Amino acid sequence: MPKRIRVAVFPVAGLGTRFLPATKAMPKEMLTIVDRPVIQYAVDEAREAGIEHFVFVTGRNKSVIEDHFDRQLELEWTLESRGKTDALETLRRELPIAGQTSFTRQQEPLGLGHAVWCARNLVGNEPFALLLPDMVFKSEPGVLKQMVGAYEETGNNVIAVEEVAPENVSSYGVVGRGQGPDSGFEVTSMVEKPKREDAPSNLIISGRYILRPEIFALLSEHTKGAGGEIQITDAMQTLLRNQGFTGVKYEGRSFDCGSKSGFLAANVAFALDRPDISGQFLSELKGILPA
Ligand code: G1P
Repeated sequence: MPKRIRVAVFPVAGLGTRFLPATKAMPKEMLTIVDRPVIQYAVDEAREAGIEHFVFVTGRNKSVIEDHFDRQLELEWTLESRGKTDALETLRRELPIAGQTSFTRQQEPLGLGHAVWCARNLVGNEPFALLLPDMVFKSEPGVLKQMVGAYEETGNNVIAVEEVAPENVSSYGVVGRGQGPDSGFEVTSMVEKPKREDAPSNLIISGRYILRPEIFALLSEHTKGAGGEIQITDAMQTLLRNQGFTGVKYEGRSFDCGSKSGFLAANVAFALDRPDISGQFLSELKGILPA
């Protein structure tokens, strides 16, 4: 049985320029889907998959993320004294316990691979999960939990993938597919943001990874790739020479909350799933949509 996955890394240093001016003074990870910040969805998914140590790679202007995962005692007392037990319960349930979170900074925006490398000393010499919080999923069980099964079977690095229309592949990392079923197939190549004609398939990397610690040595070379940035996909492609990578075409659907339309769609989908507001929300939505 391979080593259990206990640590997850969340790169949250991005500037969020696509959401300006909302993200001028507030991190994009704190934008809300219904009433919970985007980052909370990834943290909950990690917890469901058995993660016990949550490592955030932040940047300047991101300290509110640290506050979000801390207790707010005055607020808790106020809710308690007003008998708002449901709200209090939700706050407590969603909070990692003391000592389960770590924060480090990516001092310069040198790319996703560099952000992950910044977490090396907090992760240490063990396999870890990597979750890009922009990608939010509706899936049962969560995407990371689906991947842990494939990891436990093989001990391989694991990547979640999904199909996109061929004209969209150049916005993502793309994998080549070898033998095996959707629940765990051999990955034969990985390329970051290829031209449509160079893409090995239309299976994109969905922002969820389980990686063995040898990736850090490759990331420390700081080799620049697509967009002049240090890319995690390039380091994985190099690691593929020595280690297996398993692709998991997960069950569920994703919302790319790094784009405005994906973020808005996530809000609609999650709101329609919330028993406390879905009825009212649906009737408002029907009033807006063209007949
Ligand atoms: C990153 C990864 C890419 C992946 C994507 C998923 O790209 O580099 O391989 O497909 O996330 O959202 P970014 O969105 O940071 O450009």
